[in-house]
Amino acid sequence: MTTPTTPPAVPPQARFFQWVQGWVSLLLCHSLVKTGVFEQMAAGPRTADEIAGTCGLHRDTLFRTLRMMTALEITAREGDRYSLTGLGRTMLKDTPGSLYTNLVMIGSDAYQRPWQNFAYTLATGESAFTHVMGAPFFDYLEQHPELGIPFQQTQAAYALMTDPPLAAAYDFSPFRTVCDVGGGQGAFLKRILEAHPHLRGILLDMPGVTANHVLGGLGDRVAVIAGSFFERVPPADLLILKAVLHDWSDEKCAVILARCREAMPPDGRLLIIDRLLEEPFDAMSLFYDLHMLQQIGGRERTAEEMRSLLADAGLQMRRVIVPTESPVFPLRLVEAAL
Ligand SMILES: C[S@@+](CC[C@H](N)C(=O)[O-])C[C@H]1O[C@@H](n2cnc3c(N)ncnc32)[C@H](O)[C@@H]1O
Repeated sequence: MTTPTTPPAVPPQARFFQWVQGWVSLLLCHSLVKTGVFEQMAAGPRTADEIAGTCGLHRDTLFRTLRMMTALEITAREGDRYSLTGLGRTMLKDTPGSLYTNLVMIGSDAYQRPWQNFAYTLATGESAFTHVMGAPFFDYLEQHPELGIPFQQTQAAYALMTDPPLAAAYDFSPFRTVCDVGGGQGAFLKRILEAHPHLRGILLDMPGVTANHVLGGLGDRVAVIAGSFFERVPPADLLILKAVLHDWSDEKCAVILARCREAMPPDGRLLIIDRLLEEPFDAMSLFYDLHMLQQIGGRERTAEEMRSLLADAGLQMRRVIVPTESPVFPLRLVEAAL
């Protein structure tokens, strides 16, 4: 008979250095994306020398960096040639659900500096992004398309992963008009309208975002409105707020919900799509909770917090729908009515 052995405990210092290495690994990937190294490997295995020559990089440093990427299973080595693994291919521009633009943003000043200044958020409860970058996050994106466009492209890449089970989880048949409030470039609305030919759609988002909308093929079934959901939400019998409320504090959400309430007919519905925090809390959801706070002043909420936010706005939470679970983004659909 063999006695079960407990794995040796990882000393706390070793866990600390794993975090340090994870942080640097991400920034190394950012550098390899920025210098075009991963794109050079898209067509097949290349030597470090070939890639260094094409990208104008220091040969030995690239060799050592690719050696590290291979230890991280982002690249694989055969002889002296390197290729991308499945994980590495997610960092290519044209992979469906690509993380390329996400890595571009993560390494940018606009992502690094606010996190370096999280102590400001700890001291004040306010957005470190606004404090160090000089403008609230979404205003900054409007003023800086070099970040605003990758942000929208990243949302579109997330949408490929999240939207199919979300669109399948809700019955859109009773409605005539659906407005996606803060709907980005319209990928989710497009999916819904294509699946439900009887529906008409409205996309509301900021001008720099709607300018690049993807709804061109839907003709007069769709209206695109550049405007602010703090000022006016167009009337529709189904309003959607997907990945919007978690961006904002309770006070700002109250304004958005008041504008939505004004736009709803008596039998209308509001569909909120966000994470819902559930115990036992997982570190990834809590990371997003702090990320939203640091970036925009927002928060992730429990179902009870969502119910009370809605009640304060004169809306009733009717039900929570759990779609087919996504291991990447565990989102919930919260249906509310007047
Ligand atoms: C996290 S993104 C979610 C986008 C989209 N709903 C999705 O799920 O992909 C939040 C969206 O809110 C939009 N937004 C921010 N402030 C806004 C405002 N005042 N009025 C309208 N849209 C706004 C942003 O431009 C962005 O597209």
